[in-house]
Amino acid sequence: MSTGVRSRRLTIRHFQKGRGPFVCLTAYTASIARLLDPHVDLLLVGDSLGMVIYGLESTLPVTLDMMIAHGQAVMRGAHRACVIIDLPFGSYQESPGQAFRAASRVLAATGAAGVKLEGGTEMAETIGFLTRRGVPVCGHIGLMPQSVHAAGLRAQGRTEKEAARISADAHAVAEAGAFAIVIEGTYEALARQITEAVPVPTIGIGASPACDGQILVTDDLLGLFAEFTPSFVKRYAELGSAVSQAVAAYAEDVRDRRFPGPEHCFGVGSGFRSD
Ligand code: KIV
Repeated sequence: MSTGVRSRRLTIRHFQKGRGPFVCLTAYTASIARLLDPHVDLLLVGDSLGMVIYGLESTLPVTLDMMIAHGQAVMRGAHRACVIIDLPFGSYQESPGQAFRAASRVLAATGAAGVKLEGGTEMAETIGFLTRRGVPVCGHIGLMPQSVHAAGLRAQGRTEKEAARISADAHAVAEAGAFAIVIEGTYEALARQITEAVPVPTIGIGASPACDGQILVTDDLLGLFAEFTPSFVKRYAELGSAVSQAVAAYAEDVRDRRFPGPEHCFGVGSGFRSD
């Protein structure tokens, strides 16, 4: 039965219909999702929230429960953008069955449109298993932060051998049914070659304008995560210093008893009413 209420949210089909350019950003909270929503095609609840929100050293300790809680928050804040959620480390690499259990929990609990997972040829079987069972998957190749201990965090695809491996990863992920592929930290020539060769859109992060779309960690773009800014990030605002200045002004006002002023108080100058 139709409820008569049509959702205006972009779906996976939006990415299957064309080659962009697609505007994508990370979001972890309802308030930020609400601000980004009118401007983007896709919001990714990325496991980068481990570092950005929780102050962790890497994405590895991030759990499925954390992803679900933040996925629910983002879905409450965003009503137009397509929302997808990262499967965290350890929740999908063991087997296609494990991946399906994790992905179906995420989709059922959040209402998001799909999941993203890291890996190339080694994850193709899992991506096929998920997509054949109704779970839209975005791939993630090139620099893969969940493999930090095995591969480090350096740019990928400089040598012919490495480029051939990453290109094979892209083809395997696309053939397995991924609706899009994030290419991270990859040399321009390779990102261009992959984008021209695969039948699904590529979304670059540190992978040149050759990709069909771009994604950044929102806190990097806004200058909120100032501990470290990768060279591929363009900072569009300096909200970190704006926050520091605002909080310093508040602290001074409180210490000098300038805040709260009469306009921030209830019933200044009026006595008590008799009951
Ligand atoms: O976790 C994340 O935020 C990501 C993006 C950087 C693509 O995977």
